Amino acid sequence: MIRLENVTRVYGQGAGAVTALKDVNLEVAPGSITGVIGVSGAGKSTLIRCVNLLERPTRGRVFVADQELTALNKEALRKARHGIGMIFQHFNLLESRTVRGNIGLPLELIGTPRRDIDQRIDELLELTGLAERANAYPAALSGGQKQRVAIARALASNPKALLCDEATSALDPQTTSAILTLLRDINQRLGLTILLITHEMEVVRTICDQVALISGGALVETAPVGDFFTRPATEEGRLFLNDFLQLAPSNALLQRLSDGGAGNGVPVVRLTFRGQSLSSELMTHLEQRFGLRLHILQARVENIQGRTLGLMIAEFDGDRDIIDDAMAHLHTLDVQTEVLGHVQRHD
Ligand SMILES: Nc1ncnc2c1ncn2[C@@H]1O[C@H](COP(=O)(O)OP(=O)(O)O)[C@@H](O)[C@H]1O
Ligand SMILES: [Mg+2]
Repeated sequence: MIRLENVTRVYGQGAGAVTALKDVNLEVAPGSITGVIGVSGAGKSTLIRCVNLLERPTRGRVFVADQELTALNKEALRKARHGIGMIFQHFNLLESRTVRGNIGLPLELIGTPRRDIDQRIDELLELTGLAERANAYPAALSGGQKQRVAIARALASNPKALLCDEATSALDPQTTSAILTLLRDINQRLGLTILLITHEMEVVRTICDQVALISGGALVETAPVGDFFTRPATEEGRLFLNDFLQLAPSNALLQRLSDGGAGNGVPVVRLTFRGQSLSSELMTHLEQRFGLRLHILQARVENIQGRTLGLMIAEFDGDRDIIDDAMAHLHTLDVQTEVLGHVQRHD
């Protein structure tokens, strides 16, 4: 539905030139939700603005719904843009217009008859849960309601694709979750293709099918979300994921680790289970087969697009060779282990 081919965008010229996008190739399947994730300054906004040519790529081609936007003249591009909605972090509503007035604006601009506009507004108010606020002005709305208005407005001309630039970054977690649910709902009900950019892994994990990681203007990894969260293919991907998943040792554990094991300490190990369950059977197996005693100190299990990701911090109590054997066994099961330090043996 959306395809970027070798898209490069350079801002400025000469010594001050900034290459915000480098040779980006990205394909977004019809009806899917793709999240572009990256740190601030990575080039996310530039990328999404290149999709509807709010920014024109310096090089490369952009296709939306099998039409090459980069080859269109001004008039044809204006028409093609009706098929692409966009929402922003700061909503960009007209303060002087009511909710109805904001939602109907794009249709007024293309000369849609008033009756049709009013009917469409009613549908969109219903779809976005705003019926009660139809005649309110933006100043009287909450952040979540404002973003709902922006979504309704973006959908007014029945677009095939919706672009979201950090659409939930100005919202609190609860409102974010409600807006993401609305986007998923619209995606499923209308078959709308969504490309969103975000710096939050939680957003990707909640609603995306595909994730693309951008770093320094280059797309470094594109993968189904379940794969990315359980098995990132690149070092950048792993760093991003680790930041998100951090199962950090508690303060009490850090204190014990800094006291150390005084010679006869036992290792404290962080285990990462990818795609398999963090089962009590495995724990029992380690205890029965290897005679290892496990003291589980902290654990966390995440379900991401049907894939399990488990993290656990445990003391491995047993003789040195027993511990080595148990570790080797875990590695054959593709469980990652990391020794955080040593603590005094439990009594
Ligand atoms: N209009 C502009 N003129 C010059 N440099 C820009 C402009 N817009 C963005 N940049 C630069 O391009 C890079 C990518 O910016 P941006 O796409 O906004 O990243 P992100 O959305 O990931 O934070 C940054 O180095 C930024 O400073
Ligand atoms: Mg940005």
